[in-house]
This record gives sequence, C-alpha cells and structure tokens, in this order.
Amino acid sequence: MERTAVVVVVALMMLLQNSLQDTQGPVTSLNSSAELKQIRDLLFQQGLNLTELLKKDTALEKEMENLKKVNGEQAVALSAMKRELEQLNNTSAAQARALSAVKSDLKTLKNESAEKVAFSAALGLPAGLRGPKNAETTLVYKNVLTNIGNAYNSSTGIFTAPFRGVYYVRFTAAVYNNNSYNLGLNLYKNGHYLLHLGENGPDGYAKHVSSGVTLVLVAGDQLYTRLPANYVVWDDSLFRTSFSGFLLFPM
Ligand SMILES: *[C@@H]1O[C@H](CO)[C@@H](O)[C@H](O)[C@H]1NC(C)=O
Ligand SMILES: *[C@@H]1O[C@H](CO)[C@@H](O)[C@H](O)[C@H]1NC(C)=O
Ligand SMILES: *[C@@H]1O[C@H](CO)[C@@H](O)[C@H](O)[C@H]1NC(C)=O
Ligand SMILES: *[C@@H]1O[C@H](CO)[C@@H](O)[C@H](O)[C@H]1NC(C)=O
Ligand SMILES: *[C@@H]1O[C@H](CO)[C@@H](O)[C@H](O)[C@H]1NC(C)=O
Repeated sequence: MERTAVVVVVALMMLLQNSLQDTQGPVTSLNSSAELKQIRDLLFQQGLNLTELLKKDTALEKEMENLKKVNGEQAVALSAMKRELEQLNNTSAAQARALSAVKSDLKTLKNESAEKVAFSAALGLPAGLRGPKNAETTLVYKNVLTNIGNAYNSSTGIFTAPFRGVYYVRFTAAVYNNNSYNLGLNLYKNGHYLLHLGENGPDGYAKHVSSGVTLVLVAGDQLYTRLPANYVVWDDSLFRTSFSGFLLFPM
C-alpha cells in the first residue's frame, strides 16, 4: 500500500507537469474551466489505469509467492521420496544378501545330506585277549563290517566326522574265558577323554559291556576307543568287541 501511494503521487506529479507543458500557454490559460476539466479527467483516467496496473502487479507477486511455496513443498516431498527410494533400495539389497546366504546354506545342506555316514567295525581275529598293556593304547577295529562315507579308518581305529552334524557312536567290549582282569575301554574325542565303559575284577566268565553317545561333531573331529592300562578286551570271530557310529542328521 505504501509503495502504491508513492507511485500514484509521483505519477500524478509527472502527469500534471506534462499537462502544464502540453498547454504551452501562460498559467492563466489554466483558468479555462474546460481545460481544467480535461486535465482532471485525464489525471483521473491515468490514476485508474495505474491502480489497475498496481493491482495486477500485486496479484502477480502473490502468485509468484504461491508458486515459490508450492515449489518448496514439492522439493520437500521429492527429497522424502528420494529417501524412501533409497531405503527401499537398501532393504532390497539387504534382502538380496540374506537370500544369497540362505541359498548358500541350502546348497551346503543339500550337499551334506547327499553324504551318508555309517560304520561298524570289530577287533575280530586272531581270537584272544588284547592287553593287558602298561599304557593306554588305541583299539584298532580291523574288521570293517560297514564303512559308508569312509569316515572310519581301519588302520588307525579313528572315526573322523566328514562335516558338521549330529552323530551317534556306540561301542561294546567283551571278555571271554578269562576273569583275571578289568574289562573295558575309554572313548576319546580329539585327544580328550570322553567316557569310560567297563567292569572291574573277576565277576563272570563271559562279560560284555557297551555304551553309546550322541554328539554334535564338526568336520575333522575324531572319535576312537582306547584300552586303559591294565585292562583287557577279548574278541574272536564273533566280533564281541566293536565300535559303531552313524550320522543322525547334518546341521
Ligand atoms: C541402490 O543400492 C546399490 C547397492 O547397495 C547402490 O550401488 C545404488 O547406488 C543404490 N541406488 C540408489 C538409487 O540408492
Ligand atoms: C542406505 O545404505 C547406505 C550404505 O549402506 C547408507 O549410507 C544410507 O544411510 C542408507 N540409507 C537409508 C535411507 O537407510
Ligand atoms: C560338497 O561336498 C563335497 C564333497 O564332500 C565338497 O568337496 C564340496 O566343497 C561341497 N560343496 C559345498 C557347496 O559345500
Ligand atoms: C587312514 O590312516 C592312515 C594313517 O594315518 C592313512 O595313511 C590313511 O590314508 C588313512 N586312510 C583313509 C582312507 O583316510
Ligand atoms: C587270562 O589270560 C591270561 C593271559 O592270556 C592268562 O595268563 C590267565 O591264565 C587267564 N586267566 C584265566 C582265568 O583263564
């Protein structure tokens, strides 16, 4: 409004000056009422035009401001959309990574379930006592009945888990026709004593003891039985003393 007023006053002054110059006569000629009326009408008309122009200018300014505001809002919305897109992109990237991991796991699982592991072996012949010895020794079950997956080594008596899984092993010890010694054996895992199985002293003519255990093993874990010092086990063609195991399921 202030600007409008100033512009109107300046314009009126300029118009007045122009009108005075246009008359080209002495000031007294302004006394003519017709001329005065003409000038007044002219001024009035010019004023009206100016007001119209100024109105239009203000409307334009308002429109510009509106446009600026809308533009700003759109920019904010656009940036939010961009962020959302990035989030979606990140999420999908994370999902792709997770999917690939699951696929790899599945492949491994499939691979592993294709592997079958089961074995049974006995000391076997020659018939007779093994032991007693001064120190603990690993029992080597030379007579292999089953060895699917070749995880049991009949040269060493060691079963080596080919991959991570739940395995069941069992072992039986026998003494026949001799009750002079303790009977039994120990189960080891990777050089560490796990459990003992046995009977002490002369408590029977033919004795059998056995045990079994379910274990989670990882690839490379080794299981084997050892004859404790001053213990004996017996075997003959009847495979009285044996070591067995199998995979329950991979995991
Ligand atoms: C989507 O993610 C990939 C990889 O994470 C990245 O290279 C790419 O620039 C991202 N795209 C957008 C639009 O964020
Ligand atoms: C998308 O992932 C990138 C890289 O990991 C990270 O810098 C950005 O902040 C993430 N964006 C969103 C919106 O999560
Ligand atoms: C599948 O099994 C074989 C033989 O045991 C092994 O060499 C190979 O690395 C396994 N592949 C996968 C993907 O686990
Ligand atoms: C059994 O163990 C012996 C001695 O460590 C080794 O020479 C042989 O290669 C192994 N056999 C198998 C089938 O792994
Ligand atoms: C048990 O075996 C040992 C060694 O072969 C032998 O010396 C002993 O007489 C046997 N004992 C019996 C009761 O047969």
